[in-house]
Amino acid sequence: MDSFAYDNGRLFCEQVAVDELVGRFGSPLYIYSRKTLERHFDSIAQAFEELNPLICFSIKSCGNIHICKLLVDRGAGMDVVSGGELHRAKKAGTPMDKVVYAGVGKTDAEIQQAIEAQIGLFNIESEAEFKNITSIAERLNRSVRGVLRVNPDVADARTHQKTTTGLKGHKFGVDIDQAPQFFASHGHHPMCRLQGIHLHIGSPIYSPQPYVNAVTKALGLIDQLRRNGFTIQTLNIGGGFAADYETGTSPAYSEYAEPLVELLKDRDLKVILEPGRTIVANAGALITQVQYLKSSGHKKFVIVDSGFNHLLRPAMYEAFHFIWPTKVELQHMPTHRKKNMDLPGLEQCDVVGPLCETGDVLTKNWAMPPVTRGDSLCVFSAGAYGMVMASNYNAMPRPAEVLIDQDQTRIIRRRETYTDLIAPELNASSL
Ligand code: LLP
Repeated sequence: MDSFAYDNGRLFCEQVAVDELVGRFGSPLYIYSRKTLERHFDSIAQAFEELNPLICFSIKSCGNIHICKLLVDRGAGMDVVSGGELHRAKKAGTPMDKVVYAGVGKTDAEIQQAIEAQIGLFNIESEAEFKNITSIAERLNRSVRGVLRVNPDVADARTHQKTTTGLKGHKFGVDIDQAPQFFASHGHHPMCRLQGIHLHIGSPIYSPQPYVNAVTKALGLIDQLRRNGFTIQTLNIGGGFAADYETGTSPAYSEYAEPLVELLKDRDLKVILEPGRTIVANAGALITQVQYLKSSGHKKFVIVDSGFNHLLRPAMYEAFHFIWPTKVELQHMPTHRKKNMDLPGLEQCDVVGPLCETGDVLTKNWAMPPVTRGDSLCVFSAGAYGMVMASNYNAMPRPAEVLIDQDQTRIIRRRETYTDLIAPELNASSL
């Protein structure tokens, strides 16, 4: 699952004791295991090997250019949704023909940047966007390639309502039943070669079945389009593969891959995947330090130096992250991570951040080993949608990021300073 494990009461990331990192780099801190990151990437590539897919890492899940570079070095492309993400992809050294560009609100400037960068494919989300892309391509006199994002109208009961995307009535893509008409109108445009179909049904998806349902529908559409004379070369099946927020809860990559390989292997299609979370969630953790303990009514609070400003997922999606001290008594060493740990002597608490909002919670009603001021806690599986969703709310600098590679540590993003916080405001009126 990952390279975070307790030994003799101390949490190690690969060969580095996590409590020492706080001493060296301060708190709070995002840390990443190179081994876990690369193993997840290699495993998903291996599971889908028969299809030889292009794996475009979904950079929105973790945008640090050093992390992205490690994946690029293993053959990854990038799935981007903004000019800023395209910039990150470039800085990470991504070959531009391995970049796919999704997103419902691409601006004119972003489209122009992407055309000039000669990205691989636009994932086109609407007719209005298609018309805009083609008119910008005409103005620049550069033709582009795209795939049409279709909304396959498949449900997955376990995905949070804020992150499910593949149902009719969502803002993404074009309804699948309207796709033939879309191709009939635009499928032979001289400035945009519409060469395939894109799907992304939500995130995280804990079972292969919704993918099978969506891909089956997409293949029916592709057959129909081919019969109508369109050359369809590409099927992008998006991301959304699960991560282990609790030990052993996400399906093995082979469970997703086997039925999909079966469906796709003889279809003469270039397959693209856009995984983010499944590669990086378990590779990262947020380390935060206990500031104070207090009680109110029947509640006991553990107040730490990081809240929804640094990890928004619990406050925004009621997401579960396993939180445990980085140093524990031997009886409290967890051998697995789950919502209810059946160990003696745990204390019930809410782990909350320093922000001035009641909703600033990392976990509620959580049974954890007793802690005292100065102890550091590890918020596990925070590598995806962690640092990328962090803010400066309450004017708190964002954490540093550290990459661990066996017994080596490297700062891959320095801690922000107060000067960073106000830099864009200084001399703003003279700009
Ligand atoms: N492709 C498209 C078009 C997407 O919109 C997304 C994620 C992905 C790929 C990657 O999905 P992944 O493999 O990472 O699950 N902030 C939320 C997740 C939002 C996902 C948005 N789209 C969270 O923290 O759970």
